[in-house]
Amino acid sequence: MARDLLYSKVVRPLLFRMDCEDAHRFVHETARQYGTLWPLLSGLYQYRGDDLACQFAGVNFANPVGLAAGFDKNGDLVEMLGHVGFGFAEIGSVTAQARTGNPKPRLFRLLSDQALINRLGLNGEGADHIAGKLKTSKFSLPIGLNIAKTNDPAIVGDAAVEDMLYTFCQIKDLPIAYVTVNASCPNTHEGIVSEVNSLTKLFALMQAENDRHLPILVKLSPDGSEQLTKDIVATATEHELAGYVCGNTSTSRSGLSTPPATIEQIGNGGLSGPPLKMLALQLCRLVYKLKTPAQIIIGCGGIASGDDAYEFIRSGASAVQLYTGLVYEGPTLPKMINQELSARLHKDRLSLSQAIGASARQERSAAGTTTN
Ligand SMILES: Cc1cc2nc3c(=O)[nH]c(=O)nc-3n(C[C@H](O)[C@H](O)[C@H](O)COP(=O)(O)O)c2cc1C
Repeated sequence: MARDLLYSKVVRPLLFRMDCEDAHRFVHETARQYGTLWPLLSGLYQYRGDDLACQFAGVNFANPVGLAAGFDKNGDLVEMLGHVGFGFAEIGSVTAQARTGNPKPRLFRLLSDQALINRLGLNGEGADHIAGKLKTSKFSLPIGLNIAKTNDPAIVGDAAVEDMLYTFCQIKDLPIAYVTVNASCPNTHEGIVSEVNSLTKLFALMQAENDRHLPILVKLSPDGSEQLTKDIVATATEHELAGYVCGNTSTSRSGLSTPPATIEQIGNGGLSGPPLKMLALQLCRLVYKLKTPAQIIIGCGGIASGDDAYEFIRSGASAVQLYTGLVYEGPTLPKMINQELSARLHKDRLSLSQAIGASARQERSAAGTTTN
């Protein structure tokens, strides 16, 4: 299917002459300033079929392709993102306290891998400010809100739980579709959560405050051990979480074609884009085996085509999200993924809901075990 030539031949070369974070800020500002024009362009960007309309966690979505957390950390683009073809968008990570994040430079392109490495470190305007802003915004699509612990090594143990609970209480009455607990940011002092007790306390306290029964998901790391993933799924299930985002960026550097010296020079950070895909898929398959039938998975990591999205869906994801693909392929990517996904489903004579977990079920029945 034709790629976006205007983006790949004109816009991307101009953006890629800029520092990676400056380019992101420029795109973000331009999108925000010209927000009122986006509805006029929606014919260009929106997928019009109704075969991909879906419902998960009790919410209706026009299509299963969402924007991943990190692109719109402060919720500035909620009024225009619906016109770019996404079925939903995840805002954040939002933290209790405002933070400027790690020192720059902290966002890097790996051109030959179509990947990014970032160590932004949860920069953001803070929960009070973002909640105030979102109260008066008109959402153009269903919004998920991703919350994380304030990036501060002094906030640990029960204080860390209180910190995230504060954010939840600030945002829980907004007209959002779901909340994601980011337990897997590789760019904080603590790294990924390895202390399941803290998550258990947090989930219990959040659910006690969750009078609206907002679906709560937890975002997992592709770098966590199998045991850690099992433990998090067990506590998420015990506390009736609605599902999982599989998953976050990775500290892995394997399988890259970027020269090792360049990788070394870049240093720490989370890898995203196509080199992450296999790790995210493995996580998705593991969680599909562990979760309850009612819980859902949002697949995320290296998705840049309808085939990628289809692979995640067949592995158990009810929906997908992307970030890095947008940087390399441009704003027509969500529509293109939806078109390709629709064609694949049509070819295989499957509805979207029939495709969810299809390859995982095939593997199970080939192995002679019961299906979920
Ligand atoms: C620059 C950047 C910032 C990100 N910030 C966040 C964040 O604040 N919270 C979060 O949960 N994930 C964050 N992520 C991770 C993405 O949501 C996503 O899980 C990851 O990039 C894999 O998807 P992709 O390969 O489509 O980019 C960030 C990713 C990038 C590239």
